[in-house]
Amino acid sequence: MNNSIPVHVSLIMDGNGRWAKERGKDRVFGHIEGVESVRACVESAIESGVKYLSVYAFSEENWNRPQAEVDALMGLMVKAMAAEMDKLDRNGVRFIVIGNRERLAPELVATIDSCMARTASNETLTLVVFLSYSGKWDILQAAKKMIAEACTCPERLNDMMNMGVGGFDAYLATAGIPDPDLIVRTSGENRLSNYLLWQSAYSEFLFVDTLWPDFRKNEFREALEEYAKRERRYGKVK
Ligand code: IPE
Ligand code: IPE
Ligand code: MG
Repeated sequence: MNNSIPVHVSLIMDGNGRWAKERGKDRVFGHIEGVESVRACVESAIESGVKYLSVYAFSEENWNRPQAEVDALMGLMVKAMAAEMDKLDRNGVRFIVIGNRERLAPELVATIDSCMARTASNETLTLVVFLSYSGKWDILQAAKKMIAEACTCPERLNDMMNMGVGGFDAYLATAGIPDPDLIVRTSGENRLSNYLLWQSAYSEFLFVDTLWPDFRKNEFREALEEYAKRERRYGKVK
C-alpha cells in the first residue's frame, strides 16, 4: 500500500458563516452550501483510495449558538442524510455518526440509526460524522465506561490497571476507527476546538484559508499532495 495516501483524513469544516456573510446572506446559507463540499470530498476520497473520511459537523460547544441556527443545522443533518444515503450506499460508503446523543432530537437519532444499519457492511469508504462531539467528552465517557465495567466486573480490574494506551482506545467513541493521519481545518483558524484530542496525538495538521463551502475536489487533492510531502517520525530518528 502506498504510504503517501493517508488511511484516515479528517476535516474540521469551518467558515460557513463567513462564506455566507461575504455574500450578504444568512449563516444558514453557508451551512447548506457546505453540504456540497462534504459530497465533493467523499467523491474525492473514494477516487484517491482514502479509506476513512471524517468530518467535524457540530461540536458540543456549538449547542451554545442561537437556537435558530442550531435548529437549522439539525434540520439540515436529517435532510442531508435522507437525500444522500442512496448514493452513499450505492458507492460502498459505510456511514457512522459519533457524538453525545443526549441532546439530539429523536427524529435525528432514528435517521442516524437507520443510515448506519443500512450501510454497515459497506467497505469502500467509511464516512464518520462527528456530531455533538467533543474530545474531552469522549475521554470522559471512556473513563466512565471503565469505572462502570470495574464496578460490575471486579475481576476485570487487574487487567484494566495493566492496560496500555491501545487498551484505552477501545473505550473511546472512536473505537475501531484508526487515528487520523491528516487533519485539515479550513477558514484560517489554527486550533483544534475540542476535536479529536486523544486520537490526534500523531496526526499531521494542515490549516488552510479556504472557507469550507469553497473546499471542493481540487482543495481535497491539494491537501493529499501536501500530506505526501510530510515526513512522519513518531519520535524516532530517520
Ligand atoms: C462551520 O462553520 C460549521 C459549524 C461549526 C457548525 P461556522 O458556522 O463556524 O462558520 P464561521 O466560522 O462562523 O465562519
Ligand atoms: C469547530 O468550529 C467545530 C466544527 C467545525 C464543527 P467552530 O467555529 O465552532 O470553532 P471555534 O468556535 O471558532 O473555535
Ligand atoms: Mg467557525
